[in-house]
Amino acid sequence: MDVRVYRSAEEASSAAAAHIAALVARKHEAVLGLATGDTPLLLYRQLIALVRSGGLDLSRTTTFNLDEYVGLSGDDPRSYGHYMRTNLFDPVGIDLARTHVPDGLAPDVEAECEAYEHAIAAAGGIDLQVLGIGADGHVGFNEPTSSLGSRTRIKTLTRRTRADNARFFESPDDVPLHVLTMGIGTILDSREVLLLAFGDGKADAVARTIEGPVGAIVPASALQLHRNVRVLLDDGAASRLALRAYYDEVAANLPP
Ligand code: PGA
Repeated sequence: MDVRVYRSAEEASSAAAAHIAALVARKHEAVLGLATGDTPLLLYRQLIALVRSGGLDLSRTTTFNLDEYVGLSGDDPRSYGHYMRTNLFDPVGIDLARTHVPDGLAPDVEAECEAYEHAIAAAGGIDLQVLGIGADGHVGFNEPTSSLGSRTRIKTLTRRTRADNARFFESPDDVPLHVLTMGIGTILDSREVLLLAFGDGKADAVARTIEGPVGAIVPASALQLHRNVRVLLDDGAASRLALRAYYDEVAANLPP
């Protein structure tokens, strides 16, 4: 993996935004896979700033989000559909018809998940997938022991994830138990992955993802099987990496 450690989450997010802007400049019709949570907020702020300054045109891009809570409509302020409109889609003025978030109210969950996979394929596949990581090593909402070949489907959240996400709800018990999420297999099919992680709370999951064995107990470790993953970290998230000095040396001496 291509591991880059930055002085701050802001610097890492700027680097991620510049990387995405360069991709979209090369390929106006790029298909972006997007994440929610606290981690990508600075990245989205940077993308909005780039669009406003004329440095990025997202009008022809298509987006697919990783996941959504079952039982919440996209208009619910706690839903990821609402998060995306507030934090990226509305500020950049992207045509919402080009954006996709799984439908948490779909009456036929299996059909919704299958349709989501078909829509990704029909768009030509995901060019670049943005990922955060859970403290338990989940990506999307693929909780520990998710099948490494999994596709978009319904999953049950762990108590830990529901507690971590309780800040958006009145209490952990109000966090939906079920979610629709792209699978690990779906994520591995994307052509490129940018994984962002910030803060000490992610250090253990990050170390196990990059340096631990590949296994379903740390779902993000499946990214070791992907050919084009860049991990962007701050010092806190990098603090448990055994080979930190090596990653810094590689980044300072990139091959020509
Ligand atoms: P966070 O969540 O960005 O809010 O820390 C990441 C995740 O759970 O994947």
